[in-house]
Amino acid sequence: GTAPTTVTVTGAAGQIGYSLLPRIASGAMLGADRPVRLRLLEIPAAVGAAAGVAMELDDCAFPLLAGIDVTDDPATAFDGADVALLVGSRPRGKGMERADLLQANGAIFTAQGRALAENAAADVKVLVVGNPANTNALIALHNAPGIPASRFTAMTRLDHNRAVAQLARRTGVPVTGIRGITVWGNHSATQYPDLTAATVDGRPATEVVGDPAWIEEFFIPTVQQRGAAIIEARGASSAASAASAAVDHVRDWVLGTPEGTWTSMAVVSDGSYGVPEGLVSSFPVTCSGGEWRIVQGLELDAGSRARLDVTVGELAAERDAVRGMGLLG
Ligand code: NAI
Repeated sequence: GTAPTTVTVTGAAGQIGYSLLPRIASGAMLGADRPVRLRLLEIPAAVGAAAGVAMELDDCAFPLLAGIDVTDDPATAFDGADVALLVGSRPRGKGMERADLLQANGAIFTAQGRALAENAAADVKVLVVGNPANTNALIALHNAPGIPASRFTAMTRLDHNRAVAQLARRTGVPVTGIRGITVWGNHSATQYPDLTAATVDGRPATEVVGDPAWIEEFFIPTVQQRGAAIIEARGASSAASAASAAVDHVRDWVLGTPEGTWTSMAVVSDGSYGVPEGLVSSFPVTCSGGEWRIVQGLELDAGSRARLDVTVGELAAERDAVRGMGLLG
């Protein structure tokens, strides 16, 4: 049969890992015809827990699961990786300043960038989920000589899916009737979920909604603040929905986005829409043949432009901070 695809998942013993790994091993991410070899990376203190997750994956008897390795060594974890999901990161601890957080994650993502460059498959696809995701991806790609920057992406698919779900609910159509939503910028509360080009069963979403105040005062803040609302309700951050979004992101990247629409992915800017070249920003993106491409030619009205400038300004400030720490090589 087909040779297995090697998928590395970091932070494998965490909450997202627990939801994500069974989905990958079942074939939901890469398709029902692709065997998968999993490599799980954890910190030494959590390797035992990751081994327990591996035991459970064995116990699922997934027909597509060709093997599982558990390690705390990045070189071993990324050996031959075709897909790398960088989920593990350092959460903000009590009294930790933003600079401390960037520094702690800088250490993780510089090391993982290097380990990817030295060990992963030449055409590895990297998805950074661990926060601050855009800037962690920026750090990793700057520390991975030889891997094209286009191979590093960060996850805004959860924000995108949240936006799709809110619009579907408001307009009473199934999510499959929603197209052309974009989440722009940073995976943070400054992100801009944009309905300007969206359609509902083929009709402009703004017309179907017919209520600009709903978009400005409900839709945009609800999507921006959804992560905090989940924490408030659940007492823990989004995990099943984050895992599902990671599956969607990689599946679309590898297998292609559906005809006639696009998705949102944070990718390295080429200057499109005035986003400074080199920033890892969320854009409207189509994928085919395993390559992503930023959708061109969308209108940005004054309101959209202003919102995009805010979130891109935040990304630029994060980049300047990590550059100042010497994390961009
Ligand atoms: P968690 O704390 O349950 O699990 C994280 C795991 O990563 C832990 O088991 C920890 O030991 C491990 N880890 C830490 N440093 C590591 C390293 N250097 N190498 C390997 N493993 C390491 O966290 P959870 O809920 O699974 O979330 C993971 C990350 O995803 C967080 O940073 C969270 O903020 C982020 N996130 C991002 C979303 C997005 O849309 N981009 C959505 C939801 C969460």
